[in-house]
Amino acid sequence: MCGIVGYIGHREAWPIILKGLKRLEYRGYDSAGIALINDSGLNIYKKAGKVQELENFAKGKDLTGTVGIGHTRWATHGAPSDRNSHPHTSNNGKLTIIHNGIIENYATLKEELLTRGHEFKSDTDTEVLIHLIEEVYKNDNTDLLEAVRLALNGVNGAYAIVVMDEDQPGQLIAARKGSPMVIGVGDGEYFIASDATPIVEYTKNVIYLNDNEIAFLKRDELLIKRLDNVIQTPYIQELELKLEMLEKGGYEHFMLKEIFEQARSIRDCMRGRIYPNEGKVQLGGIKEYADKLKNIDRIIIVACGTSWHAGLVGEYLIEEYARIPVEVEYASEFRYRNPIITEKDVVIAISQSGETADTMAAIEMAKEKGATIFGVCNVVGASIPRLTHAGVYTHAGPEIGVASTKAFTAQVTVLTLMAFYMAQQKGTLTHSKLIELLTELDCIPDKIQKALESNDLIKEIAEKFKDSRNCLFLGRGSGFPVALEGALKLKEISYIHAEGYPAAEMKHGPIALIDEEMPVVVIATKNSSYEKVISNIQEVKARKGIVLAIVTEGDVEVRKMADYCIEIPDASEAFLPLLATIPLQLLSYHIAVLRGCNVDQPRNLAKSVTVE
Ligand code: F6R
Repeated sequence: MCGIVGYIGHREAWPIILKGLKRLEYRGYDSAGIALINDSGLNIYKKAGKVQELENFAKGKDLTGTVGIGHTRWATHGAPSDRNSHPHTSNNGKLTIIHNGIIENYATLKEELLTRGHEFKSDTDTEVLIHLIEEVYKNDNTDLLEAVRLALNGVNGAYAIVVMDEDQPGQLIAARKGSPMVIGVGDGEYFIASDATPIVEYTKNVIYLNDNEIAFLKRDELLIKRLDNVIQTPYIQELELKLEMLEKGGYEHFMLKEIFEQARSIRDCMRGRIYPNEGKVQLGGIKEYADKLKNIDRIIIVACGTSWHAGLVGEYLIEEYARIPVEVEYASEFRYRNPIITEKDVVIAISQSGETADTMAAIEMAKEKGATIFGVCNVVGASIPRLTHAGVYTHAGPEIGVASTKAFTAQVTVLTLMAFYMAQQKGTLTHSKLIELLTELDCIPDKIQKALESNDLIKEIAEKFKDSRNCLFLGRGSGFPVALEGALKLKEISYIHAEGYPAAEMKHGPIALIDEEMPVVVIATKNSSYEKVISNIQEVKARKGIVLAIVTEGDVEVRKMADYCIEIPDASEAFLPLLATIPLQLLSYHIAVLRGCNVDQPRNLAKSVTVE
């Protein structure tokens, strides 16, 4: 949550930072601000609302300067307003800071600073931090790097910060703990950002700053230390990110582009990992643990939101094929229980962003108790992949729409591969069955492409549903997590209240909601629970509910009962979640567009939830 950008070099900083903030806007869009230093001093522009508001506000003002910092905010401490927007300044107005994270002991620090005569202009924890840095700077008679280092040693919480000093315009100080930070290394210039997207068009050489590291940057100098003052050797990596991955590519919204990318993203996710002819799955990221997988007692999956839904699909697949008991936990609940975890447990943490605070805390707890932790992440080099023992990247490419789509299907794909890999290690699937399953999996991207062809029909159906106030999603077996995910997608981008339920549970309560105005979306594909789902549809129809069914191509039974049907290609039960999700994503998308909602940046949400 919150995106930060910094620049020091020979180019004008404003356009670089502004563009960078637009790229990072998925991390929060409550307010935005930029501070620049030029020969006449410091200029700060900030505004509540999106980065566009800031751009409009700053038109015609002095935007020159080759050093600057910028921020796009997801509000935690203090309402979204101009005064709470970053950058914040010190008491004397000379030091400026941008911050992503939370300073947990800010209230105590603030009290102390108030007694020393500091005056605060905002309600934020960030402003307290820059005043603290100023206090250390002033009293310890030291340089700014040392002042920031000492101040951070007195702070609890998470941060990625960049600090600028009006009196020393040729330097920036950056530091991180728990919030991401990437430094782009150019020729006589450095870029700083929450992820690599603002940097990629200027340089491919990046350094991922580690937790508890602090960087001192001048145009032609970089020094990295740990907070305990030990100097570090920077490790420069080459970015794989391509610029076109960050553009809409002719689509109206990133979400639609990402939905349509799924045949490609799933193919990328499987590349080099499945060998259908040989009946073999290869997962390099966890191969060191191949033997351990033969003897594990249990798998615990921890995740939040959509990633948690992927975990539920994983539970079906791993139990079905590898015959290992699986528990799926909300990371936010798991971390605050005192769960029983042993060294024989494997914990799989799923996260698109690789930054979710609750998931990270759950990993840390399970690690302390001796479990082996695997990560399933999309963002390469993010915090979670560094925290885990091993893992498998989803390789879906950058997901910019705040509502997760292609990352979900890629997570499900990785979990499918993991289930088959574990089955292969344990010998719970025959070789011929593995060949059959992998051969079918190899064709799933083509079937996804086929499922996407229903887009126009789905748009028409969306017209009928767009004014609904509630919506129920039902599914059985692995169709149940698909129903949950369909409901989450609809509520988060269209603001229609939606619930996902196991279809058989409907009669234990939700059936009371059904009347002639209630749309019920049912996953009614031809699998082992097909007949039972038909009975559930009848129960809905008997109460005059409106049924939209997701059915297998050529279905006739459900068509007789349902008001609307959307077909998906036939597939084995293992792969139905990958296919059945596609029409639900499109349905939510079109409903949200028809309701005039901002589908890429739904209200109150942010793409990476780095606060608990
Ligand atoms: C919903 C959505 C969220 C995320 C959740 C976890 O569309 O995107 O529910 O799935 O915030 O985020 P990650 O996967 O980054 O840990």
